[in-house]
Amino acid sequence: AIERTLSIIKPNAVINHNIGQIINRLETAGLQVAGLKMVHLSKEQAEGFYEEHRGKVFFEILVDFMTSAPVVVIALQGENAINAYREIMGATDPAAAARGTLRADFGGEIVTYNAVHGSDSPESAAREIAYFFPDTQVYSY
Ligand code: CMP
Repeated sequence: AIERTLSIIKPNAVINHNIGQIINRLETAGLQVAGLKMVHLSKEQAEGFYEEHRGKVFFEILVDFMTSAPVVVIALQGENAINAYREIMGATDPAAAARGTLRADFGGEIVTYNAVHGSDSPESAAREIAYFFPDTQVYSY
């Protein structure tokens, strides 16, 4: 079925000028850009987005990282988009991600700096897209 999912190109990938290469891989894989913007997240925005991780050992470093520079937020649309995009991203830890995945190729030295985020379920995709985009700013074409 046609699904939507949320992608975030994280600060390290933005700083390293990898935005274009990452979007190119998404489009080449058949995922359409349905919504797109750059945002420099506030602490409150980052904490709210990662609410489910509040209290975990990595939460504070994650929020510090995600607020360290602008990110690119993308609503993706396509067949089986949630899992298709998860395959393109690779495992959460860049060191464990399969060769040729976004996280293997653009991730940094620690798991936090894993270059991209992706929704993990239809429920989180709906929540995460709505977190950044009003309905009128996500497009089917
Ligand atoms: P992301 O897919 O954005 O979801 C939560 C993020 O927390 C994850 O990618 C990593 O950037 C970061 N993180 C840091 N440490 C861990 C960890 N031990 N397990 C999972 N995620 C982690």
